[in-house]
Amino acid sequence: MTNRYRPTWAEINLDHLWHNYQEAASYVPDKVVIPVIKANAYGHGAVEVMKHLYLHGVRFYAVSLLEEALELRKIYDDIDILMLGPVMPKDLRICSKNKIEFTVYDMEIAKHVLHSKYPLICHLKVDTGMTRYGITEPNEIIDTIDSMQASSHVHLKGLFTHFATANDNEEIYRKQLDQMSMIIKKIKKLPEMIHISNSSSTFKYEFQIPYTTHVRLGISLYGLTLDIDQPDIKPVMQLKSKVVQIKELKPGDCVGYGATYCAKENERVAILPIGYADGFLRKNKTGSVEIHQKKYKIVGIICMDACFIKVDDQIKVGDVATLFGGIITIDDVARRLNTINYEVITSISSRVPRVYIKS
Ligand SMILES: Cc1ncc(COP(=O)(O)O)c(C=O)c1O
Repeated sequence: MTNRYRPTWAEINLDHLWHNYQEAASYVPDKVVIPVIKANAYGHGAVEVMKHLYLHGVRFYAVSLLEEALELRKIYDDIDILMLGPVMPKDLRICSKNKIEFTVYDMEIAKHVLHSKYPLICHLKVDTGMTRYGITEPNEIIDTIDSMQASSHVHLKGLFTHFATANDNEEIYRKQLDQMSMIIKKIKKLPEMIHISNSSSTFKYEFQIPYTTHVRLGISLYGLTLDIDQPDIKPVMQLKSKVVQIKELKPGDCVGYGATYCAKENERVAILPIGYADGFLRKNKTGSVEIHQKKYKIVGIICMDACFIKVDDQIKVGDVATLFGGIITIDDVARRLNTINYEVITSISSRVPRVYIKS
């Protein structure tokens, strides 16, 4: 839904997005950065993000779902799209027709691919220890690669794995890397694309990995990381809303459902038209928002479409509140909610319009 009327929006800075892409690329100068734009580009708007990167010459994108892949394919015919999530055997025909590259994630789908009558482009995923999608047994991996390379209708374009702990446990990370390196050594003819790093691994380890050709950049494309050593990346999303009403409270007046906040003295409460149905979750009630570079506390319970802010005399109807992405960072909100920055940005719902800014 595009909603142009409500005074609540997520501002998406496309200059920052491109800056982040280039920053990652500068860490891996001889490799290609694949933007991961699944889950609506982590909430930033997959189509707009892709269009902006396309203008800068990016031609390879990764998503999770076939629906996401087809949405992109409708727009550009000259891009490569890799679907990282599981493909269903019945959908191989659609992948073939729309040139969607998909993941071979177990032996069952490998059989369907080999027995298919359609021309298919795929990437084989190796499970090196994440225990999610991917084939674990080295013999099965090698046999599948051999069969696919011998097939006339299958183009085995890539080989990849995914790390579980690139940002927080080097020992487990190294075990996965060793497993991948061991498998790479056994392969007679490597596919043209080998990609194993996510954002954290791109910045921290990719320069040491000789056999890869691409990296898959998700969270850091959007200016965020879980690493303590931050690369020079800039957050892309700011969540904003405008004060639509101000209530002058007298001592004893209470605010919102459950009347959980009651004024002890004369107070002013500003109402913002944003609530948990927008992805501004109820647990945010312990936090603040920014208005005119100053923090103001959220009071009462967050409603589906609105929340309440205790303000001073400086604040008036029409003032812009920044809920995150300004002096209150996305990471501050993640800490407040006891979660990770990924969840904060992907939770912003589709009824919040995305407003794109670029120089
Ligand atoms: C297979 C795969 N590759 C790459 C990524 C991007 O990871 P990150 O956002 O940590 O860069 C993801 C995200 O979850 C993923 O599932």
